[in-house]
Amino acid sequence: MTGSIRHFLRDDDLSPAEQAEVLALAAELKREPFAKRTLAGPRSVGVVFEKPSIRTRFSFEVAITQLGGHPIVVDGNSVQLGVRESVPDSARVMSRYTSAVVWRTHGHDRLDELAAYATVPVVNALDDVFHPCQVLADLLTISERKGSLKGLRLVFLGDGANNMAHSLLLAGATAGIDVVVAAPEGFHPDPAVFADAVARGELTGARPQIVADPVKAVEGADVVVTDAWVSMGQESDPRDRATLMRPYQVNKALLSHAKPDAIVLHCLPAHREEEITSEVLDGAQSAVWDEAENRLHAQKALLVWLLERSDSGRPHTGR
Ligand code: CP
Ligand code: NVA
Repeated sequence: MTGSIRHFLRDDDLSPAEQAEVLALAAELKREPFAKRTLAGPRSVGVVFEKPSIRTRFSFEVAITQLGGHPIVVDGNSVQLGVRESVPDSARVMSRYTSAVVWRTHGHDRLDELAAYATVPVVNALDDVFHPCQVLADLLTISERKGSLKGLRLVFLGDGANNMAHSLLLAGATAGIDVVVAAPEGFHPDPAVFADAVARGELTGARPQIVADPVKAVEGADVVVTDAWVSMGQESDPRDRATLMRPYQVNKALLSHAKPDAIVLHCLPAHREEEITSEVLDGAQSAVWDEAENRLHAQKALLVWLLERSDSGRPHTGR
């Protein structure tokens, strides 16, 4: 009999109470890095990358190691998920060796398919639509700097249709944060994702918005966030993104419209003097290096939380 398995494929896979549990555990593990040796044995976790990565790759490998486990980090080209054999068959096989599978891929439907056939938790390490592990780290960073999350105003500027914008909308609404997306025409969030954020906000009091004017969007912001104007896989888009998104650059003049104690986040890698100036990225309001570190703590908490709530229904055979 197969038991219940918890996956983390998109931000609203965690309820508001569950997200708060994971963030509290992340803060605990930041204070005491070896407090939860959930993977001691060691049990193994597969981590597969079909796009480049520094932060996600390093932070998952360190996270799994600190939990006492064994990370199997492989390049997508070498496993060829869905090419050499079907995604369902790969899911069945990887589940026999590992305690969880972490995957960075392109289409979100590929993650849904892997999770449908895996008998261990599947974690989205970024796809074309969502980047939920990043936004857990963002929320941890915001709570460290602001003390709490509910009722804050977070403004995301730039490509409002990208994975970070979508994840911030869903995770922000889950946390009770008013997420405002400021983006040019043609770069607004997927209407279905936005509707899901609005629905989630009805539970928490959060009110997601889309605003065209970057200055109006940033007014009263507690948190200002941006990301690459061209995400991985979008390099052949013929639109002149740099010109269209230039008014949304996070620079000192734009930031002056936010609250004086607003913090600035960027998931990195940053394209200096494009979506953000060095003056802001390296400035006093930037929290980007804490944000990068918090990937480690947030992902440790996530893995512990998912494993504690998942039961493959099979005895552990060294996994
Ligand atoms: N922020 C982030 O996910 O970085 P990497 O692409 O380097 O993993
Ligand atoms: N939106 C960016 C995030 C990189 C971490 C991308 O997908 O390339």
